[in-house]
Amino acid sequence: MDWDQIYFHAKEWVNAAGARIRLSFDETLNIQTKSNANDLVTNMDKEIEQFFISKIRAVYPDHKILGEEGFGDTLENLDGVVWMIDPIDGTMNFIHQQRNFAISLGIYENGIGKIGLIYDVFHDELYHAKRGNGAYLNEKPLAPLKDSTVKESIIALNATWVMENRRIDHNLMIPLVRDARGTRSYGSAALEMVFVATGRVDAYLSMRLSPWDVAAGAVIIEELGGFVTNLRGEKLSFLAQDSLFTANQGLHQSILKDYLKEGRW
Ligand code: IPD
Ligand code: CA
Ligand code: CA
Repeated sequence: MDWDQIYFHAKEWVNAAGARIRLSFDETLNIQTKSNANDLVTNMDKEIEQFFISKIRAVYPDHKILGEEGFGDTLENLDGVVWMIDPIDGTMNFIHQQRNFAISLGIYENGIGKIGLIYDVFHDELYHAKRGNGAYLNEKPLAPLKDSTVKESIIALNATWVMENRRIDHNLMIPLVRDARGTRSYGSAALEMVFVATGRVDAYLSMRLSPWDVAAGAVIIEELGGFVTNLRGEKLSFLAQDSLFTANQGLHQSILKDYLKEGRW
Protein backbone atom coordinates (compact mmCIF):
# COMPACT_ATOMS: atom_id res chain seq x y z
CA MET A 1 0.00 0.00 0.00
CA ASP A 2 1.48 3.36 -1.00
CA TRP A 3 0.27 5.49 1.92
CA ASP A 4 2.30 8.51 0.80
CA GLN A 5 0.44 8.49 -2.50
CA ILE A 6 -2.93 8.09 -0.74
CA TYR A 7 -2.02 10.99 1.60
CA PHE A 8 -1.04 13.14 -1.39
CA HIS A 9 -4.29 12.42 -3.24
CA ALA A 10 -6.43 12.91 -0.15
CA LYS A 11 -4.92 16.38 0.44
CA GLU A 12 -5.32 17.33 -3.20
CA TRP A 13 -9.00 16.30 -3.23
CA VAL A 14 -9.77 17.99 0.09
CA ASN A 15 -8.27 21.25 -1.17
CA ALA A 16 -10.29 21.04 -4.39
CA ALA A 17 -13.47 20.29 -2.43
CA GLY A 18 -12.79 23.27 -0.15
CA ALA A 19 -12.36 25.59 -3.14
CA ARG A 20 -15.70 24.37 -4.52
CA ILE A 21 -17.41 25.02 -1.16
CA ARG A 22 -15.98 28.56 -1.02
CA LEU A 23 -17.49 29.26 -4.45
CA SER A 24 -20.89 28.18 -3.10
CA PHE A 25 -20.88 31.10 -0.62
CA ASP A 26 -22.22 33.26 -3.47
CA GLU A 27 -24.78 30.70 -4.59
CA THR A 28 -28.26 29.94 -3.24
CA LEU A 29 -28.21 26.71 -1.29
CA ASN A 30 -30.86 24.05 -1.59
CA ILE A 31 -31.57 23.13 2.05
CA GLN A 32 -33.46 20.01 3.14
CA THR A 33 -34.09 18.31 6.47
CA LYS A 34 -33.15 14.73 7.36
CA SER A 35 -34.11 12.97 10.62
CA ASN A 36 -35.67 16.10 12.20
CA ALA A 37 -36.27 19.80 11.54
CA ASN A 38 -32.79 20.73 12.83
CA ASP A 39 -30.92 17.97 10.99
CA LEU A 40 -30.02 19.83 7.80
CA VAL A 41 -28.43 18.85 4.52
CA THR A 42 -27.65 20.98 1.46
CA ASN A 43 -26.88 20.32 -2.17
CA MET A 44 -23.22 21.04 -1.29
CA ASP A 45 -23.03 18.25 1.30
CA LYS A 46 -24.20 15.84 -1.40
CA GLU A 47 -22.09 17.28 -4.21
CA ILE A 48 -18.89 17.20 -2.16
CA GLU A 49 -19.43 13.61 -1.01
CA GLN A 50 -20.04 12.58 -4.64
CA PHE A 51 -16.91 14.45 -5.70
CA PHE A 52 -14.77 12.47 -3.24
CA ILE A 53 -16.40 9.21 -4.23
CA SER A 54 -15.78 9.72 -7.94
CA LYS A 55 -12.10 10.51 -7.26
CA ILE A 56 -11.59 7.56 -4.91
CA ARG A 57 -13.38 5.08 -7.19
CA ALA A 58 -11.28 6.20 -10.19
CA VAL A 59 -7.90 5.83 -8.48
CA TYR A 60 -8.58 3.21 -5.78
CA PRO A 61 -11.40 1.00 -7.05
CA ASP A 62 -10.84 -1.63 -4.35
CA HIS A 63 -11.13 0.85 -1.44
CA LYS A 64 -14.42 1.14 0.44
CA ILE A 65 -16.24 4.33 1.35
CA LEU A 66 -18.38 5.27 4.33
CA GLY A 67 -20.02 8.64 3.67
CA GLU A 68 -22.54 10.54 5.74
CA GLU A 69 -24.86 11.31 2.83
CA GLY A 70 -25.12 7.66 1.81
CA PHE A 71 -23.47 7.68 -1.62
CA GLY A 72 -20.74 5.28 -0.47
CA ASP A 73 -20.90 1.63 0.56
CA THR A 74 -22.92 -0.12 3.23
CA LEU A 75 -20.29 -1.75 5.41
CA GLU A 76 -20.54 -4.71 7.73
CA ASN A 77 -16.89 -4.61 8.75
CA LEU A 78 -13.81 -2.43 8.35
CA ASP A 79 -11.71 -4.95 6.43
CA GLY A 80 -9.40 -3.42 3.82
CA VAL A 81 -9.02 0.31 3.23
CA VAL A 82 -12.05 2.42 4.20
CA TRP A 83 -12.44 6.15 3.53
CA MET A 84 -14.75 7.77 6.12
CA ILE A 85 -16.12 11.02 4.76
CA ASP A 86 -18.08 13.84 6.28
CA PRO A 87 -18.28 16.26 3.33
CA ILE A 88 -19.43 19.13 5.58
CA ASP A 89 -19.24 18.68 9.34
CA GLY A 90 -21.20 21.49 10.94
CA THR A 91 -23.84 21.89 8.23
CA MET A 92 -25.94 24.14 10.46
CA ASN A 93 -22.97 26.52 10.81
CA PHE A 94 -22.31 26.28 7.07
CA ILE A 95 -25.88 27.39 6.36
CA HIS A 96 -26.23 30.04 9.07
CA GLN A 97 -22.68 31.38 9.31
CA GLN A 98 -20.63 30.27 6.25
CA ARG A 99 -17.88 29.39 8.73
CA ASN A 100 -17.19 27.07 11.67
CA PHE A 101 -17.56 23.95 9.54
CA ALA A 102 -15.02 21.53 8.09
CA ILE A 103 -14.45 18.69 5.66
CA SER A 104 -13.49 15.55 7.59
CA LEU A 105 -11.76 12.61 5.94
CA GLY A 106 -10.35 9.61 7.79
CA ILE A 107 -8.68 6.70 6.02
CA TYR A 108 -8.51 3.40 7.88
CA GLU A 109 -6.96 0.01 7.14
CA ASN A 110 -8.52 -3.00 8.86
CA GLY A 111 -10.02 -0.65 11.46
CA ILE A 112 -6.74 1.16 12.20
CA GLY A 113 -6.61 4.91 11.49
CA LYS A 114 -3.86 5.68 8.97
CA ILE A 115 -4.62 9.18 7.68
CA GLY A 116 -6.76 12.00 9.04
CA LEU A 117 -7.58 15.31 7.32
CA ILE A 118 -9.79 18.07 8.65
CA TYR A 119 -10.09 21.14 6.47
CA ASP A 120 -11.37 24.36 8.01
CA VAL A 121 -12.58 25.76 4.71
CA PHE A 122 -13.28 29.33 5.85
CA HIS A 123 -9.80 29.78 7.33
CA ASP A 124 -8.06 27.71 4.63
CA GLU A 125 -6.47 25.61 7.38
CA LEU A 126 -5.79 21.95 6.75
CA TYR A 127 -5.11 19.80 9.80
CA HIS A 128 -3.63 16.49 8.79
CA ALA A 129 -1.78 13.46 10.07
CA LYS A 130 -0.40 10.21 8.77
CA ARG A 131 0.09 7.55 11.40
CA GLY A 132 3.66 7.64 12.73
CA ASN A 133 4.45 10.83 10.86
CA GLY A 134 3.21 13.57 13.22
CA ALA A 135 0.28 15.94 12.82
CA TYR A 136 0.31 19.29 11.03
CA LEU A 137 -1.61 22.50 10.55
CA ASN A 138 -0.88 23.26 6.90
CA GLU A 139 2.94 22.84 6.85
CA LYS A 140 3.46 23.50 10.56
CA PRO A 141 3.98 20.52 12.91
CA LEU A 142 1.62 20.41 15.91
CA ALA A 143 3.13 19.96 19.38
CA PRO A 144 2.40 16.85 21.46
CA LEU A 145 -0.45 17.39 23.94
CA LYS A 146 0.39 18.41 27.49
CA ASP A 147 -1.51 17.08 30.49
CA SER A 148 -3.94 19.40 32.23
CA THR A 149 -6.19 19.24 35.28
CA VAL A 150 -9.96 19.82 35.22
CA LYS A 151 -9.54 23.09 37.09
CA GLU A 152 -7.32 24.57 34.39
CA SER A 153 -9.15 23.06 31.39
CA ILE A 154 -11.60 24.28 28.79
CA ILE A 155 -14.03 21.52 27.89
CA ALA A 156 -16.00 21.45 24.63
CA LEU A 157 -19.50 20.02 24.90
CA ASN A 158 -23.05 20.85 23.83
CA ALA A 159 -25.31 22.46 26.43
CA THR A 160 -27.95 19.81 25.69
CA TRP A 161 -25.85 17.22 27.54
CA VAL A 162 -26.09 19.25 30.75
CA MET A 163 -29.88 19.28 30.44
CA GLU A 164 -32.00 16.23 31.08
CA ASN A 165 -31.46 13.99 28.06
CA ARG A 166 -31.94 10.40 26.92
CA ARG A 167 -28.28 9.42 26.75
CA ILE A 168 -26.58 10.30 30.03
CA ASP A 169 -27.62 11.29 33.55
CA HIS A 170 -27.05 15.02 33.26
CA ASN A 171 -26.30 15.11 37.02
CA LEU A 172 -22.94 13.54 36.12
CA MET A 173 -22.12 16.42 33.80
CA ILE A 174 -22.97 19.25 36.21
CA PRO A 175 -19.91 18.85 38.51
CA LEU A 176 -17.62 18.64 35.49
CA VAL A 177 -19.02 21.84 34.01
CA ARG A 178 -18.82 23.52 37.43
CA ASP A 179 -15.21 22.47 38.12
CA ALA A 180 -13.75 23.19 34.67
CA ARG A 181 -12.19 26.57 33.91
CA GLY A 182 -14.71 26.99 31.10
CA THR A 183 -16.85 25.23 28.51
CA ARG A 184 -17.25 25.86 24.79
CA SER A 185 -19.56 24.62 22.06
CA TYR A 186 -18.65 25.08 18.41
CA GLY A 187 -21.16 22.96 16.45
CA SER A 188 -18.66 20.89 14.47
CA ALA A 189 -17.30 17.70 16.00
CA ALA A 190 -14.39 17.69 13.55
CA LEU A 191 -13.34 21.23 14.51
CA GLU A 192 -13.80 20.46 18.19
CA MET A 193 -11.38 17.56 17.75
CA VAL A 194 -8.95 19.87 15.97
CA PHE A 195 -9.23 22.23 18.93
CA VAL A 196 -8.23 19.38 21.25
CA ALA A 197 -5.32 18.60 18.90
CA THR A 198 -4.10 22.19 19.03
CA GLY A 199 -4.69 22.62 22.78
CA ARG A 200 -7.28 25.38 22.20
CA VAL A 201 -9.59 23.23 24.28
CA ASP A 202 -8.44 20.39 26.53
CA ALA A 203 -11.28 17.89 26.09
CA TYR A 204 -14.32 17.27 23.91
CA LEU A 205 -17.30 15.15 24.94
CA SER A 206 -20.32 14.12 22.93
CA MET A 207 -23.05 11.56 23.63
CA ARG A 208 -23.56 10.42 20.06
CA LEU A 209 -21.46 10.77 16.95
CA SER A 210 -20.99 8.75 13.76
CA PRO A 211 -17.76 7.23 12.42
CA TRP A 212 -17.34 10.00 9.80
CA ASP A 213 -17.55 12.68 12.55
CA VAL A 214 -14.60 11.28 14.49
CA ALA A 215 -12.47 9.16 12.11
CA ALA A 216 -10.11 11.94 10.99
CA GLY A 217 -9.87 13.67 14.36
CA ALA A 218 -8.96 10.42 16.09
CA VAL A 219 -5.89 9.94 13.88
CA ILE A 220 -4.74 13.53 14.43
CA ILE A 221 -5.25 13.51 18.22
CA GLU A 222 -3.66 10.08 18.74
CA GLU A 223 -0.66 11.18 16.71
CA LEU A 224 -0.16 13.90 19.34
CA GLY A 225 -0.47 11.49 22.26
CA GLY A 226 -4.09 12.31 23.16
CA PHE A 227 -6.69 9.69 24.04
CA VAL A 228 -9.82 9.02 21.97
CA THR A 229 -12.48 6.73 23.46
CA ASN A 230 -16.18 6.63 24.19
CA LEU A 231 -17.48 8.01 27.49
CA ARG A 232 -16.88 4.65 29.17
CA GLY A 233 -13.21 4.83 28.22
CA GLU A 234 -13.55 2.07 25.61
CA LYS A 235 -12.06 2.05 22.11
CA LEU A 236 -14.34 3.30 19.34
CA SER A 237 -15.51 0.77 16.74
CA PHE A 238 -15.70 3.27 13.83
CA LEU A 239 -18.53 1.13 12.43
CA ALA A 240 -21.47 2.31 14.53
CA GLN A 241 -22.56 5.44 16.38
CA ASP A 242 -21.04 5.89 19.82
CA SER A 243 -20.32 8.53 22.43
CA LEU A 244 -16.97 10.33 22.25
CA PHE A 245 -14.53 11.47 24.89
CA THR A 246 -11.19 12.87 23.79
CA ALA A 247 -8.59 14.77 25.79
CA ASN A 248 -4.93 14.93 26.68
CA GLN A 249 -3.93 11.79 28.58
CA GLY A 250 -3.86 13.20 32.10
CA LEU A 251 -7.20 14.95 31.79
CA HIS A 252 -8.80 11.92 30.11
CA GLN A 253 -7.77 9.71 33.01
CA SER A 254 -8.90 12.08 35.73
CA ILE A 255 -12.30 12.85 34.15
CA LEU A 256 -12.98 9.12 33.68
CA LYS A 257 -12.02 8.38 37.27
CA ASP A 258 -13.55 11.35 39.06
CA TYR A 259 -16.58 12.32 36.95
CA LEU A 260 -17.68 9.49 34.62
CA LYS A 261 -17.26 6.71 37.17
CA GLU A 262 -18.13 3.30 35.83
CA GLY A 263 -21.47 1.92 36.89
CA ARG A 264 -22.94 5.34 37.55
CA TRP A 265 -24.59 5.48 34.15
C1 IPD B 1 -22.87 17.36 13.44
C2 IPD B 1 -21.84 18.28 14.08
C3 IPD B 1 -22.29 18.66 15.47
C4 IPD B 1 -22.52 17.45 16.35
C5 IPD B 1 -23.56 16.56 15.68
C6 IPD B 1 -23.07 16.14 14.28
P1 IPD B 1 -23.14 17.43 10.75
O1 IPD B 1 -22.45 16.94 12.14
O2 IPD B 1 -20.59 17.66 14.16
O3 IPD B 1 -21.33 19.46 16.10
O4 IPD B 1 -22.98 17.86 17.60
O5 IPD B 1 -23.80 15.45 16.46
O6 IPD B 1 -24.03 15.30 13.69
O7 IPD B 1 -24.53 16.89 10.73
O8 IPD B 1 -23.12 18.90 10.73
O9 IPD B 1 -22.26 16.78 9.75
CA1 CA C 1 -20.88 15.43 11.05
CA1 CA D 1 -22.09 16.31 7.62
